Order: sequence, then structure tokens, then C-alpha cells
Amino acid sequence: MPHMKEAWPKKILIERDAKTLVASVVDLLEERLRRRLSEDSPKPLGLATGRTMRPVYIELISRLRSWPSNELEKLLGSWCSFNLDEYVGLTDKNIDSYLAYMAKYVGEPLQLTPDKLRVPNGLAQDPQIEASLYGEELRMRGGVSIQLLGIGINGHLGFNEPPCGPNTPCRLVRLSETTRIQNAFAFNGDLNKVPVEAITLGMAEILSAEEIHLIVTGTSKAHILNCLLSQPSSNDLPESWLRQHKNLYVWADHSAFGQCKRGMIASK
Ligand code: GLP
Repeated sequence: MPHMKEAWPKKILIERDAKTLVASVVDLLEERLRRRLSEDSPKPLGLATGRTMRPVYIELISRLRSWPSNELEKLLGSWCSFNLDEYVGLTDKNIDSYLAYMAKYVGEPLQLTPDKLRVPNGLAQDPQIEASLYGEELRMRGGVSIQLLGIGINGHLGFNEPPCGPNTPCRLVRLSETTRIQNAFAFNGDLNKVPVEAITLGMAEILSAEEIHLIVTGTSKAHILNCLLSQPSSNDLPESWLRQHKNLYVWADHSAFGQCKRGMIASK
């Protein structure tokens, strides 16, 4: 494979299918998590939700279960993660909330308490104040170390809908029709049940992460991945602000990458 000289993205890693891609992502995550064992108070992890991330968490949990118990205890003892976003107005028992998603795929399997696995409170009386406090708490803890990201078909990251600049902070946002349609699958396909507002970390917090891993799978993401790799940064394409990040890893399967025009492939 050709060596990639460009500084951005740091690496593009392509695998033939989503399953193989997930295994590669988790290889790297495991390595990064092991590194944290030697740190006294590692900076928070930045976690994401969505269909793309489900197999990542399932594979990660399965790997962590084979860790020596003392190492796993240490990892979980110092665990601190901040999720990107949450819908506004879903009850805490709602299985479609990101709180419920994280409890199912990460919290319960690893027996993490909610104070270690942070998700914005979508039921806060004042969601805008909740957003400010959430962003502030993340800053107080030093910002994100490793940020996992999926992507919306309109180029949103978290719930940073276009138009969106690179300095937007954690805030209350209104969801676009495109996003609500994309995410209706989680609400039995009923668009009326998809909330209209959400709390999201802003591009400011995302771009402040030390390292970003963007995971893109499936043909439905091919167009937006191509845009990321070929278009200049602009408010109309929130993902394009990732071009400013020096430590971005893009992980894609053939279905997503196949239609991209650029032949930039870096080997692991
Ligand atoms: C959702 C979430 C994003 C997620 C993205 C991709 O709207 N807010 O954080 O990365 O859309 O979702 P999926 O993986 O289901 O395509």
C-alpha cells in the first residue's frame, strides 16, 4: 500500500467489511486503554452512540472480559467517559435514549455507575443550562483524550447540525429533518416520536480531543465520507472541521470508502 505523506488525516484505515473494521478499531482502543493503566487520573474518554458504534462496544466488552482482573479493575476504577449527545425530553426509562443505549452496551456489562459514564441529562429543567454545565464539567476534567465519532449522513458530528462553525460549544440544538429521519429507526420508524431537540458537545469540545477516531461504515455513508476527504472546511459541513485536527484517524469499510475518489490509503 502507498505510504501516506499528508498530515491530515493522520491515518485512513480501510478494511473489507464492517466486522473486520470493528476488530481493527478495537485492537487500537485496547492498546490505548492499556496505556491509561499507568496514568493516575487519565483524561475522559469521549464516547458516541448510533448503529455504527454498537458492534464496537460489543467487541470491546468481549476483549476487556479477557483482561487480567487486576488490570480490568484498574481500568474501571479510573473510568471516566463523556458521551457526545442526548435527546431532549425522553423519559429515563425510554429505551431510545442515549442514556439507555450506553447503559445497555457499556454501563451494565462493565458495571459502571452513571457518574463514570456521563451522558447529558435530556430531562433537565433547563436543557441549555444543563448543556453549559456538562461542557464545563468536561473542561474541568481536562477535556477528552480519545474521542470516538460516528457521522450523520448530512455531515453532523454528535448533533452538530449544519450550519455549524468550529468554535460552537456544548449547547441545546434543534435537530434537522434529515437527522430525525435518519434516526427514526430507533423509534420504530415513527418520525413523530423522534425528539426535535438535543444537547450536544460542540465542535469546540470535539476538536479539543487529543485523538479522534471517526468510524464510517456502509454505502449510506459513502457520499459524506467523500465530502470529508474532498471538500474544504465550511459551516455547511460540520464534519469538515475535522480537517483542522492533527490527530484524526478515519476508519472506513469498503462500502463507505469504495466510492471515494481519492486513493489515500494508509497501512496500519
Ligand atoms: C446520530 C448521533 C451521532 C451518531 C450519528 C451516526 O444522530 N447523534 O452521534 O454518530 O448519528 O449514527 P449511525 O451510526 O446510527 O449512523
